[in-house]
Amino acid sequence: MKVLLIIAVLLASGAGMALQTAAPAPMTEYPIPRLVQQDGRYALLVDGAPYLMLGAQSNNSSDWPATLPEVWPAIEYLHANTLETPIYWEQFEPKEGQFDYSEVDTVLAQARAHHVHLVLLWFGTWKNGSQHYMPEWMKLDPQRYFHVMNKEGEYVDSPSPFATASREADKRAFAALMQHLKEADSERTVLMVQVENETGTWGTVRDYSPEANKLFEGPVPAEVLKAMGKTSATAGANWEQVFGPEAEVYFHAWAVSRYVEQVAASGKAAYPLPLYCNAALRDPLKPETPVTYESGGPTDNVIPIWKAEAPAIDLLAPDIYLAGTAQYLKVLELYHRPNNALFVPETSGSVRSARFFFSALGLQAIGYSPFGLDYTRVPPVMPGEVEASKNAFLDPTAQNYELIGPMMREVARLNYEGKLQATSEMEDEPIQTLHFGGWDAVVSHGVGRKGPAKGNPEPIGRALVAELGENRFLVTGFFCHVDFRPAGTAQQRESGQIVVGTGQIPSAEIDGRWVHRQFLRVEEGEYEDGAFKFLRILNGDQTDYGLPFTSQPEVLRVSLATY
Ligand code: DGJ
Repeated sequence: MKVLLIIAVLLASGAGMALQTAAPAPMTEYPIPRLVQQDGRYALLVDGAPYLMLGAQSNNSSDWPATLPEVWPAIEYLHANTLETPIYWEQFEPKEGQFDYSEVDTVLAQARAHHVHLVLLWFGTWKNGSQHYMPEWMKLDPQRYFHVMNKEGEYVDSPSPFATASREADKRAFAALMQHLKEADSERTVLMVQVENETGTWGTVRDYSPEANKLFEGPVPAEVLKAMGKTSATAGANWEQVFGPEAEVYFHAWAVSRYVEQVAASGKAAYPLPLYCNAALRDPLKPETPVTYESGGPTDNVIPIWKAEAPAIDLLAPDIYLAGTAQYLKVLELYHRPNNALFVPETSGSVRSARFFFSALGLQAIGYSPFGLDYTRVPPVMPGEVEASKNAFLDPTAQNYELIGPMMREVARLNYEGKLQATSEMEDEPIQTLHFGGWDAVVSHGVGRKGPAKGNPEPIGRALVAELGENRFLVTGFFCHVDFRPAGTAQQRESGQIVVGTGQIPSAEIDGRWVHRQFLRVEEGEYEDGAFKFLRILNGDQTDYGLPFTSQPEVLRVSLATY
């Protein structure tokens, strides 16, 4: 698929002397994927240009030769460009110090054959807060590779972040994985690697082992004080004195992030791919004390501690299974920060959640990846059953990716340049307004040809608008209408009314006169190889009441003027 270019560098070492050949400098045509930032916006550069990961994560036990055949057809059906798939420590290091690369090589080769990129998930010390993926030789030696101890002095089902032997073993294994990728993946099939999976601990807030207790009673490290804005705290104050009821959660986050940093750094030293950690979330809208969520992982309240302690981790990413609209949107906002690129590595692929893909794009997400989208858990279709039912769990994501897939480079580029906005329907808010300089794009959900927007029966509407140039926009979406109104007063801009003024045309009162929108040209087209291909001009019934988007993938390029 890709060609390795070898450039031999010849050096003349002086007149009359033979030409010397320096050691050939192997140079791949393909740069290592990397995360870049500009004015607080991020892009994942793949082959040197912004790339949008349209991902799907397979089920936990799907990365085996026996089950991969049930993964690829789902990825193809989804129009996904990236598969997130686990690498299991127990498979990777069956005997201490002996690494088995066969599974990595299998998934690399199969991904290439299917023209799909990979995000590898290192199921190492932590998997959902437990240590279930540690190899047997570690599980059989719990004294050495010990667990977290709870307040009652019992070992719980979670690895201790103070287990030095576990950490050293994980560092070696993760470095071996990254070193192997460096050697085996000059094609850059792998875009990013997730270090551990949902780190932290369920059921106890922190480790209460004697060693941990001693540290908890000691002074808070300076970098934690700084990260949490507590620089004025009394020198030498301990965790409880500085942080009160939050002290234990912060302490565990500090211990876990320090451990993960060492693992990540050892892998990055071998091969500097972008690395990230995923978080099992807490409810972002109601503080939970006592702690009922997974403590220690990169939940929103401890992001600054993770950022300070784990610089080898490029981004912290939320696994969003929260069903409420307000909660979901709050999480996106919390993980979209000037110092953190938004990436959703796990979420629900349900009909109701699919719209949040657009919300994530509206916050410059570099990727999105619903969980469990392969055929390993799908009941076989019985004779006579409609084949389509087999794909019902894939359809909402497939709809998004079929639309965005062909234009994903354009979407990633426009987002990186700050030209793109996107939104999804909220209950009780049938009209949303996206502000672009001289124009407001007004998105109405659940509107007929005429009449007020009432919202769809289920909140499934979504829209994306990007500024292509002066008075020119790219527009797409599902289950909504989009129209443009000249930007008027602040009150008009926020108004739920799309049509104001005297006519039926979106208008605004500017400098004492009504200014009306007119469509100069509305082009329908499709993206092919990243370029917009014109199909037809829409007019008449197709534009007189705004631009309607249904369940079908449709992309428009719109030129506007006023009169
Ligand atoms: C979140 C985890 O990160 C995934 O590996 C998986 O266990 C899902 N939860 C739920 O199935």
